[in-house]
Amino acid sequence: MAGRAMQAGVSTLIPTLTDGMVVLRPLTQDDVPDITQGCQDEVIARWTTVPQPYLAEHAQAFVTEHGPGPNWWQTPTWAITVGGGRWCGTIDLRMDGQGGAEVGFMVAPGSRNRGLATRSLRLTCRWGFAAQDLQVIRWWARVGNDASRSVARNVGFHVHDEILRRALVHRGERVDAWYGDMLPVDAADTPRRPTWQQQDLTAREREVLNHLATGRTNREIAIELGITENTVKNHVRSILEKLPARSRIEAVVIGVQQGLTHLPN
Ligand SMILES: CC(C)(COP(=O)(O)OP(=O)(O)OC[C@H]1O[C@@H](n2cnc3c(N)ncnc32)[C@H](O)[C@@H]1OP(=O)(O)O)[C@@H](O)C(=O)NCCC(=O)NCCS
Repeated sequence: MAGRAMQAGVSTLIPTLTDGMVVLRPLTQDDVPDITQGCQDEVIARWTTVPQPYLAEHAQAFVTEHGPGPNWWQTPTWAITVGGGRWCGTIDLRMDGQGGAEVGFMVAPGSRNRGLATRSLRLTCRWGFAAQDLQVIRWWARVGNDASRSVARNVGFHVHDEILRRALVHRGERVDAWYGDMLPVDAADTPRRPTWQQQDLTAREREVLNHLATGRTNREIAIELGITENTVKNHVRSILEKLPARSRIEAVVIGVQQGLTHLPN
């Protein structure tokens, strides 16, 4: 799978997860203004440990650390979007390297109560269990974070009734916590069809994508690569299916976001 390939250092493909409405895509520097704006929210400040005050440089550093790169697989992190558009939130899995992970998520105030966190958490857990062989995903929240608790419950976390006293540290202060865990068996409604991209582009498809990024036509690519125009068409079709993308331009945009290609200088 794409995840394992990357861990072995042979692929740069970061999975984009989707259920048809929510698209979890890698963070990009273009998200910095939206993240900066979103993290001004007092609810986020109350329940998470984002820096206070939250400045654009914090968002820049966050995207640099958690966007596509060699460290991505230690803490897989996605921008929560609708249809692959602007940043509406963030979700991550903090891997413990021993078959477990802790989940963290936030949604910008203007995007709340539309099911985005629930859908995103469901996608992330399914991917964690199926693509990363996780045995357990843990959820923690400060006592009182009812919205987060609802999201965890709705996704199938076993949310325990007990309060774990002083179990979390929040801005230098030990606070009481709620705790939940999810096992693969709890995600029993996992659909047969995977909702993440498993298939890496072949070397030839990467080559064709590089040519698409230069704006070449199928005919020009065919001449350049010494293959027929029809073969180029087949490669383009396969690229669009795998990314997935609806057009050549979108394929280039996704390819750039995922580090599969780059735009000419
Ligand atoms: C928690 C958070 C991510 C939820 O995002 P969201 O996209 O609005 O979540 P959803 O729309 O998928 O679901 C929200 C659920 O919380 C419930 N909810 C919302 N506000 C609530 C409140 N004040 N009290 C109780 N339940 C609440 C909603 O009714 C819904 O549950 P339901 O589907 O059973 O009715 C968002 O509120 C947030 O970013 N909070 C600040 C950061 C945070 O707390 N992160 C989690 C840290 S553990």
